[in-house]
Amino acid sequence: MCEPVESIIGADKTSADYYFDSYSHFGIHEEMLKDVVRTKTYQNVIYKNTFLFKDKVVLDVGAGTGILSLFCAKAGAKHVYAVECSSMADMAQEIVKSNGFSNVITVLKGKVEEIELPVAQVDIIISEWMGYFLLYENMLDTVLYARNKWLASSGLVLPDKASLYLTAIEDADYKEDKIEFWNNVYGFDMKCIRKQAMMEPLVDTVDQNQIVTNSQLLKTMDISKMAAGDVSFTAPFKLVAERDDYIHALVAYFDVSFTKCHKLMGFSTGPKSRATHWKQTVLYLEDVLTVCEGEAIVGSMTVAPNKKNPRDVDIMLKYSLNGRRCLASRTQYYRMR
Ligand SMILES: C[S@@+](CC[C@H](N)C(=O)[O-])C[C@H]1O[C@@H](n2cnc3c(N)ncnc32)[C@H](O)[C@@H]1O
Repeated sequence: MCEPVESIIGADKTSADYYFDSYSHFGIHEEMLKDVVRTKTYQNVIYKNTFLFKDKVVLDVGAGTGILSLFCAKAGAKHVYAVECSSMADMAQEIVKSNGFSNVITVLKGKVEEIELPVAQVDIIISEWMGYFLLYENMLDTVLYARNKWLASSGLVLPDKASLYLTAIEDADYKEDKIEFWNNVYGFDMKCIRKQAMMEPLVDTVDQNQIVTNSQLLKTMDISKMAAGDVSFTAPFKLVAERDDYIHALVAYFDVSFTKCHKLMGFSTGPKSRATHWKQTVLYLEDVLTVCEGEAIVGSMTVAPNKKNPRDVDIMLKYSLNGRRCLASRTQYYRMR
C-alpha cells in the first residue's frame, strides 16, 4: 500500500513555507547531490582517508539528506551526529535507517545553535556550508559556532581552508543583454531597474575564453582557526591583462581544501575547472575598460555580511585603470541576495 500523499510531500506546507525553508524540499538536495565535483570530493576525502575517521566521533553540521554522515559511518566513524534544521531531517532519519546505520548515526532535528548534543565534544566536524560567492547564506558562522562549542582541542574541521579569487572578463554580449537592456525597453526608459541589476552580482558560468587577466587570491580562510568576524574583510587586488581586450566584469570564485588528508584534496569553482552548482559570481563594471596586454586594473574588494540580513553579502569594489587607451577609477556597491 502507498503512504498517504500528505505524509510523503508534506501537504500541510504552503509555497511560502518552502520559500522560507528551501532546504526542506528535495530539489535543492538533488542539485547538490548531483554536483559530482562537490559530492565526489567529499566522498573521496572520507573514503581515501579512513585513518582520520576510524573510531572517531563526528558532527555533521547541516546534514541535509545525511549523505556526509553516511560516508563517515561507512569509513568507520564510532558515532556521527547529523544535525539538520529543515524537515529534510525526517528524510535523513529514514535514509539512515533504511541503510542500516541507525546504531552509528544519530539525526538531530534542529538548529546547531539550539540543539543539545549528547556528547561534550567531537573529534571531527564535517560540513558543506559554502554558498554562492563562498559566503552567501552565511552558514560558516554555524560551523564556527559548532567548532567553538564542541570540537576537541586536537579535533579536525573538514574542509579546513577556503579561498576566494578574483579575475576579469570580456562579457559585452551578456552585459548588453542583462544590464543595458533596461536602458530602452520597447522604447521606454527603465534605467531605474538597470541600477538594481548592476548591484546584483550574477551567478552564472563563465567561459574560460572570456578571461582577460590573471587571477588574484583575495582571501584564504582557515576554518580551524578563524573568528566569526573574519568573514568581513578588505583585500587589495592587481589584475594584469594577458592580452589586448575589453573588460566588462570582474568574476569571483572559490576553492576549498582538505589539508589534513594523506594528500591534499579539494576542488575549485573557478571558470577553468569543471562546473559546479556554485558556478561563478559576475560583478559588472560601470565602465568598459579598454585594456592593453600588461596593464593592470588595481583596487580593493570589501566584503561583509549585510547588517540587517546577515545571510546577504555586501560588496564594495574599488578599481582603477591607468592605461594607454583608458583611464578609469570608480567605487561600486553590490549586494548578494
Ligand atoms: C549546503 S546544504 C548541505 C547538505 C548536506 N550536508 C550535503 O552535503 O548534501 C546545508 C544544510 O545545512 C542546513 N543548515 C543550515 N543552517 C543550519 C543550522 N544553523 N543548523 C542546522 N542545519 C542547518 C540546511 O538546512 C541544509 O540542509
